[in-house]
Amino acid sequence: MNSYARTDWCGAPRISDAGRETTVCGWVGRRRDLGRLIFIDLRDRSGVLQLAFDDSTAEDVFAAASAARAEYVLAARGVLRERSAKNPELPTGDVELEVRELRILAVSETPPFEIADGADVNDALRLKYRYLDLRRPSMQRAVELRHRVTKLARDYFDEQGFLEIETPMLTKSTPEGARDYLVPSRAHPGRFYALPQSPQQYKQLLMVAGFDRYFQITRCFRDEDLRADRQPEFTQIDIEMSFAGVDDVIAVNEGFLKRVFAETLGVEIELPIMRLKYREAMERFGSDKPDTRFGLELVDIGDIARGCGFKVFSEAMAAGGGVRLINVPGGASAIPRKQIDALTDFVKAYGAKGLAWTRLTPDGASSSYSKFLTDDENAAVSARAGARTGDLTLIVADASESVVFAALGALRRECAGRLGLIKAGEYKLLWVTEFPMFEYSEDEGRYVAVHHPFTAPLDGDEDKLLGDKGGCRAKAYDIILNGTELGGGSIRISTPQMQERMFKALGFTEEDARERFGHLITAFRYGAPPHGGLAYGLDRLVMLLCGADSIRDVIAFPKVQNASELMTGAPGEVAREQLDELAIKTVAPA
Ligand code: AMO
Ligand code: AMP
Repeated sequence: MNSYARTDWCGAPRISDAGRETTVCGWVGRRRDLGRLIFIDLRDRSGVLQLAFDDSTAEDVFAAASAARAEYVLAARGVLRERSAKNPELPTGDVELEVRELRILAVSETPPFEIADGADVNDALRLKYRYLDLRRPSMQRAVELRHRVTKLARDYFDEQGFLEIETPMLTKSTPEGARDYLVPSRAHPGRFYALPQSPQQYKQLLMVAGFDRYFQITRCFRDEDLRADRQPEFTQIDIEMSFAGVDDVIAVNEGFLKRVFAETLGVEIELPIMRLKYREAMERFGSDKPDTRFGLELVDIGDIARGCGFKVFSEAMAAGGGVRLINVPGGASAIPRKQIDALTDFVKAYGAKGLAWTRLTPDGASSSYSKFLTDDENAAVSARAGARTGDLTLIVADASESVVFAALGALRRECAGRLGLIKAGEYKLLWVTEFPMFEYSEDEGRYVAVHHPFTAPLDGDEDKLLGDKGGCRAKAYDIILNGTELGGGSIRISTPQMQERMFKALGFTEEDARERFGHLITAFRYGAPPHGGLAYGLDRLVMLLCGADSIRDVIAFPKVQNASELMTGAPGEVAREQLDELAIKTVAPA
């Protein structure tokens, strides 16, 4: 062989390709040596092909095949032929390559773990040798899918007239939002850039600059605690458009989502996507990012609870809280009595103080609270719940309505999981709109923005910015997929007066606001078009499209829980001289 040139296949070789001569290059996966018969599963990005060596194989080629070991890199030329023992699990399982020439392009030490999906390997080891882990077929597929979605986003938004414009990575730290990653400045000792948490202010300034449709696929940085769907650096598909209201932003994005699902999964999304106002989402699902693949909706029994004889219920109502339930059809048998204690512990993690329950088994009813209620009250609860024989009714009462929502919202997901109500391959999208503008932060002792300080109030709620803050709603929306927040955005404030009012509402003094956000307020004085936009978490979108449990599985080189990267060991120490140059003194960690 004079070149390594792989034959370009359109898809995997199949039976109809038998007789074709071809060259393949890749890594040795499984290898079976049966003496005068050797089979090697050769793996590359496109899949696996069986190489066959037998009595008809030239001596030197056979010797090379005998020498090949796991993860050796080979180039093989030969003729495709029908396999005698077919492997129905492989797309290429009907054919094998009768090898005529074989070159070992690289040898490999015994890898620290078997490179196969489903192999039981500890995560830390995988991430230390990420380049080996990435050779697994599922990782190769995830990385490829990510590329497809990224390209699709570029194509779609380009077709819709959006321009991709880059914004700075070295920016200014602003209060609000998550903790910043800071970068010291050598030219300005003692001063720091911040890595962007998102391009929010820049994209708005691009609207002022007349680029009426912007998008960018960009890295964002947030120094927050990691979770399965959170990394310190992640990627957004970020968009902004001028002369647009909520419906315009939603329409453009529905077109995008439809295309993504059709072209990556072959799934047809029905448009328009369902919309729920925040308040309704909370009341029905106990969550602002509800999973709508199953029912188990919350039911309000506050009116029945208010005057009842059970103190847990009546006192929660008297304190201005709530009493709500979920009825789990078939829950009485699926969730045995002894598991209810575990569910009680489960809701306690969300702040609930207890869990009241009724099981309607065919042998009769049992309940943790019915003895405290009159027959009429019990009948009313049961009717409201729609409970039937076989059902389990679960009630949370609390002086804080948000505890009731959080506990029951989580409990409905938990019960759906236990009952197997969540089907793989089902995709339920949902817009949640009309979010509250503010939430009260106990830590900071003030109202903070739920979305960000650039979000416009709902028409008619403008006066609540400096009045009834708790009741002020925003022109903000999130797009939810199967209970995960995929993206979020809003229509923005675009006048200096309203923006100043917003900063005041958040407790900034005028000087503070000018110092931190003066550029934006000034820009709004020079003709700012009405505008709004949205950003998707690309990692989350790809995670859900490929059915992964964590965004780590769709990021080539992710970080672990404590924000370190196990392969390179980042963050690392730096030389004293580097710190001196930056005028930075370090103290020994406590
Ligand atoms: P937001 O903060 O809601 O909005 O972020 C938009 C989307 O980004 C994803 N995301 C993350 N993904 C992985 N790891 C993280 N740490 C992380 N944080 C957020 C989520 C989220 O929905 N500038 C605004 C958007 C706008 O108003 O246009 C913004 O950043 O999927
Ligand atoms: P007790 O009288 O405290 O034994 O409570 C009777 C039942 O009410 C038990 O099943 C408790 O778990 C339940 N319960 C207690 N607190 C709450 C609560 N905040 N919400 C719902 N049920 C509760």
